[in-house]
Amino acid sequence: MKRTDYCGRIDRRFLDQTVTLTGWVHRRRDHGGVIFVDLRDREGLVQVVCDPDRAATFATAETLRNEFCIAVTGRVRPRPAGTVNANLQSGEIEVLAHEIEVLNASLTPPFQLDDENLSETVRLEHRVLDLRRLPMQRNLMLRYRTAMAARRYLDAHGFIDIETPMLYKSTPEGAREFLVPSRVHHGQFYALPQSPQLFKQMLMMAGFDRYYQIVKCFRDEDLRADRQPEFTQIDIETSFLSELEIRELMEGLVRAMFKDALGVDLPDPFPVMTFAEAMGKYGSDKPDLRVPLVLTELTDLMKTVDFKVFRSAADLPNGRVAALRVPGGATLSRKEIDDYTAFVKIYGAGGLAYIKVNDATKPNEDGLQSPVVKFLPEAVLREILARTGAQSGDLVFFGAEREKIVNDALGALRAKVGHDRGLAEKGWRPLWVVDFPMFEYDEEKKTWAARHHPFTAPKDGHEERFSTDPAHALAKAYDVVLNGWEMGGGSVRIHRPEVQEKVFAALGITPEDQQRKFGFLLNALKYGAPPHGGIAFGLDRIVTMMCGAESIRDVIAFPKTQRGQDLLVEAPTPVTEQQLRDLHIKVRPSDAMKVA
Ligand code: AMO
Ligand code: AMP
Repeated sequence: MKRTDYCGRIDRRFLDQTVTLTGWVHRRRDHGGVIFVDLRDREGLVQVVCDPDRAATFATAETLRNEFCIAVTGRVRPRPAGTVNANLQSGEIEVLAHEIEVLNASLTPPFQLDDENLSETVRLEHRVLDLRRLPMQRNLMLRYRTAMAARRYLDAHGFIDIETPMLYKSTPEGAREFLVPSRVHHGQFYALPQSPQLFKQMLMMAGFDRYYQIVKCFRDEDLRADRQPEFTQIDIETSFLSELEIRELMEGLVRAMFKDALGVDLPDPFPVMTFAEAMGKYGSDKPDLRVPLVLTELTDLMKTVDFKVFRSAADLPNGRVAALRVPGGATLSRKEIDDYTAFVKIYGAGGLAYIKVNDATKPNEDGLQSPVVKFLPEAVLREILARTGAQSGDLVFFGAEREKIVNDALGALRAKVGHDRGLAEKGWRPLWVVDFPMFEYDEEKKTWAARHHPFTAPKDGHEERFSTDPAHALAKAYDVVLNGWEMGGGSVRIHRPEVQEKVFAALGITPEDQQRKFGFLLNALKYGAPPHGGIAFGLDRIVTMMCGAESIRDVIAFPKTQRGQDLLVEAPTPVTEQQLRDLHIKVRPSDAMKVA
């Protein structure tokens, strides 16, 4: 029996034709005289009907159980009136089985495939069966279509796919690396690449002009819903274009992916916001623009008050006092406010002052209900209402701390309150965030670190600030943000060796270390390196958004758990003493759990 089409594609067009279908028994229903089999393949379901007229076929149908793999030949006929299923492509027809062949039986699956409340552990342990589920089939097909849309766009724009090494060198600057021991070179290690950053830059220096790769990257980070230790980038680099030209070309790519894979038209052009504006108004460099709420700056105003919580934060050199107006928020209960207070404490906030605006015409204890009103003069309260635009019936939250904590806490609260109160718009709100700082201060190590990576070019004229005012040196760096997720980030790169050395120096990397770690780059920059720049998109994240999934694990065929394990193949595992010997490795006793 040779398959003639996919189950999910059979519809009215096939009426009265004989078809042969293969797939899995999704469900078998025995209606006394007639047996119905929902047959499933990657394109969807079709209803197969077996009646006792064909005794042998009927007998086979009686033996079928869920997840048996079968082939069916039969005739397509309309479903009887009243039994049409409008949710299925094949919902108007059914296949009357002439012949059924069991290609393989199945054990009883450990779960119902259409159970929507499966634990992720169970799903990951039985990933093969989990992947048979229609939502997972849909997710991975959408992922494929998205990747293909990217390839088509990039190919049409002259980008060529070039592979770069997976066995790379340890350059412990960014996230923690995965190391691979060398057998031949005793005591030496490769590192898996965190991204092909320097290889793609060297491909520009080698004259390939436009490069892309859909490539695995490895980062040994703490895992979250939007992070995996191995994940996939659409990695891109181009020569001779300005920052603006690169951004235009790249947002075209994002639009093409959404259009081709999802049929969605994203705005053209994407709005652009500076990093400073994003932090000021949204407390985040990846604001969810579907939520219309914004933060209001009060730091200057609070330098004038006596209320200690606000005044001491306003007086800190890196302090901030900001407000978040919640329209209609005066209806929030004590319990809801307590829950939001607990929420901001996750981000390090000491508390969450608030004012319920009962009557905006009385900016004092008569019109405002709050634990802090009695500490604030009427003129200040009036100004708070004016700046936030608060009306009667609103509520205003306050954050007063170090700037980073206020931004993290109120930024997250903004998005949470917006979604909780149904204020978020539907749809897609992409955005470029630009003008990132070159450096950020590492409080623990007491040094400046690269905010993006150390190969990012400074904005014109900002190089002088490296030594005088590193906090305000800005970079030609940009992120694409969509609905509160960072989908991609890139920059114009440094293409002059002396600028590269200056940035390394600003990061506290000694000339000897520069040579040892990045000598290959500094050297290549000296032979006529072209101006170049690029970007990398997180394919997993883009597809997760498109699918409306909660976690990037739902768009990766074989993902790792939060603890970095593959529950299907059971990795990682101990290895044999002989393997370790070959690699010249001895496991420390405290770690040597169960070496096989
Ligand atoms: P960056 O580190 O910003 O840039 O990474 C680019 C994009 O990759 C995605 N991403 C991740 N996705 C899943 N799991 C992770 N652990 C993870 N980490 C990052 C994000 C992010 O926007 N070489 C530079 C790019 C460049 O400058 O061209 C880079 O890797 O969506
Ligand atoms: P307290 O003086 O600690 O009793 O706090 C008075 C009010 O200010 C309470 O509503 C606290 O939740 C709030 N609060 C305390 N610390 C902060 C802070 N750092 N930022 C915003 N509100 C705060």
